Amino acid sequence: MDGAASFCGSFCHNIPSICDSALLRVLLVTLSLLCADVEALQVIGGSVTVEQGSTAILSCYVIDTNDDLTQITWQRKTREKPHNDNFLTILPREGAQFVNGDDDRFKYIGNFNNKNGTLQLSNVALKDEGRYTCIFTLFPSGNQKTEIPLNLLVPPFTNIKDNLPTLGTEEVLFATCTAAGSKPPAEVRWLTGALRDKMRTTTNSTQYDNGTTTTVSSLFGLPMREINGHQVQCVISSDSLTKEETLPFNIQIYFSPTEVNIRVITEDSFECVTEANPNANFTWSR
Ligand SMILES: *[C@@H]1O[C@H](CO)[C@@H](O)[C@H](O)[C@H]1NC(C)=O
Ligand SMILES: *[C@@H]1O[C@H](CO)[C@@H](O)[C@H](O)[C@H]1NC(C)=O
Ligand SMILES: *[C@@H]1O[C@H](CO)[C@@H](O)[C@H](O)[C@H]1NC(C)=O
Ligand SMILES: *[C@@H]1O[C@H](CO)[C@@H](O)[C@H](O)[C@H]1NC(C)=O
Repeated sequence: MDGAASFCGSFCHNIPSICDSALLRVLLVTLSLLCADVEALQVIGGSVTVEQGSTAILSCYVIDTNDDLTQITWQRKTREKPHNDNFLTILPREGAQFVNGDDDRFKYIGNFNNKNGTLQLSNVALKDEGRYTCIFTLFPSGNQKTEIPLNLLVPPFTNIKDNLPTLGTEEVLFATCTAAGSKPPAEVRWLTGALRDKMRTTTNSTQYDNGTTTTVSSLFGLPMREINGHQVQCVISSDSLTKEETLPFNIQIYFSPTEVNIRVITEDSFECVTEANPNANFTWSR
């Protein structure tokens, strides 16, 4: 059974020129029909997506083989180490051993006798992102491997910064809404409701070497008095956030008192009225 499987798998691989010949094609069709009945050895992996700081399970095992397992090797390819780098070997007696320095965050949680090479990686960081390869050294079929992509989610830091606009007749920047260091990038937008026609927004983003992106959306408009006190919202969404984040923002247009009116209320009381933002301080003198 095993012999047939490895014959089926390696025949054309080893002698492709023969497989090109028309005569042999007939034979190969027959052979492949036979092979379909044979369960082939498979290395099962998968892809893993986790949030920064959490624990990732890099699941990897072999099925459908009676081969002898002599060693499991883990390799990785990350931003820092762009070439496949052996970092862990697992031997039947010695167990798991790091190749180039220990990293206690990795724990071998598979089972050698079950041909299970599963690793657990706790406190996952951005630098861990990449492609992990588990290699099973089997006899007689040789090395069998699969690649497991590890993707990270990093939720953004969010904030709104008030640009403190003052009353005027030219368009100004009211505020910026920022989603910093998000992976994948965040979408940032403003909900301006009734002020929709009076507002303009622009969005730009910067991607960093570590794979995160900062997105900034700016809110512009005419700094008119009637806009003062209106509430708008900045909405931030990303796959790294379990739900959208909504930051409320109260538009404040700053202006100093221009018109001051003093009114006589009664014989011995006066009222001083003016409009300003922030509220004016009054000092009486006579
Ligand atoms: C391999 O080991 C992991 C961790 O112990 C376990 O969750 C998984 O079920 C095992 N897979 C197989 C096929 O035995
Ligand atoms: C967005 O653009 C503004 C103005 O061009 C710039 O000052 C700011 O640094 C940019 N922000 C990002 C995150 O690229
Ligand atoms: C990614 O790089 C940026 C810019 O260097 C930095 O501000 C940010 O903290 C980094 N993020 C992580 C999670 O390391
Ligand atoms: C107005 O009064 C408040 C409270 O006494 C004080 O904190 C603030 O500095 C004053 N503002 C001005 C412009 O004098």
